[in-house]
Amino acid sequence: MKTKITELFGIEHPIIQGGMHFVGFAELAAAVSNAGGLGIITGLTQGTPEKLEAEIKKCQALTDKPFGVNLTFLPSLTPPDYPGLIEVIIKTGVKIVETAGRNPAVYMPAMKEAGIKIIHKCTSVRHSLKAQDIGCDAVSVDGFECGGHPGEDDIPNFILLPRAADELDIPFVASGGMADARSLVAAMALGAEGMNMGTRFIATQDAPVHDNVKQAIVNASELDTRLIMRSLTNTERVLNNPAVESLLAKEKALGDELKFEDIVDEVAGVYPKVMIDGEPEVGAWSCGMVAGLISDVPTVQELIDTIMTEADEIIKSRLQQAV
Ligand SMILES: Cc1cc2nc3c(=O)[nH]c(=O)nc-3n(C[C@H](O)[C@H](O)[C@H](O)COP(=O)(O)O)c2cc1C
Repeated sequence: MKTKITELFGIEHPIIQGGMHFVGFAELAAAVSNAGGLGIITGLTQGTPEKLEAEIKKCQALTDKPFGVNLTFLPSLTPPDYPGLIEVIIKTGVKIVETAGRNPAVYMPAMKEAGIKIIHKCTSVRHSLKAQDIGCDAVSVDGFECGGHPGEDDIPNFILLPRAADELDIPFVASGGMADARSLVAAMALGAEGMNMGTRFIATQDAPVHDNVKQAIVNASELDTRLIMRSLTNTERVLNNPAVESLLAKEKALGDELKFEDIVDEVAGVYPKVMIDGEPEVGAWSCGMVAGLISDVPTVQELIDTIMTEADEIIKSRLQQAV
């Protein structure tokens, strides 16, 4: 399938694996790129420039296809060494960066000069337009359904994507709630040039995370996610569990008085315990409503091949017959 996104990134299929904390390691990124999509290493999981360099080199040894690095810009008193991380990305020859969170404008000139293509993840049309203004090459439009941080507007993809299509000149992919061929074809009908998936890629054989996490996603329905940290204006969609229920009880009790310190036990340092040690109930971790559409743990190659074959069938047979 050829779209503006496959052309922009030099990939075979318009399918991107979004950066995911403690999931987006070299093994997963390489598997997605080898299957014809765009795999992405999560920069902040590595933390330091030295570790990121090693992870990029590992990925380069596993694939000769294009892959990217995610840089999430978080508000922080002690920010990660973003200039150092970008230096390593440039030095190792990575040509695609997925930015997310705060406006990456200050880092754009260095990346652009190195010939890096930038796709920024946005949860609203206004942020997508801003990304376009500062020179991003594409955006990943993340609807309210998404796992992770859906922003504060609560606009689902059936509205957000056509709104983005109406306003943007640069290409965009649909993100949030994407799982299969139906998602891809629908996203393209709504104006996207491809799709970005997070949660779906966790439940694959190639995701280097504990089996308990994959099973938790397979066992979950579309009713099993919760929104946390609303009152901190840092809303996150996570899989429900006893720790999340206790966090929500604190949020309810404290209301607008809630401070990050009140919920630190349920959110800080949780990812390695969940993803590596296999304790999915230890705290809050991002998961999309799309868990309700996930009932197997295929290889990434099987997943992407099935999506592309079935997308072809939907377009050429089901939709063709309807006109
Ligand atoms: C476990 C997990 C961790 C994530 N970590 C990050 C991250 O560190 N940076 C980021 O930009 N997005 C992160 N995301 C968001 C994904 O890249 C993607 O935008 C989102 O999962 C799309 O929604 P979906 O899960 O419905 O496919 C994360 C998502 C999940 C499920």
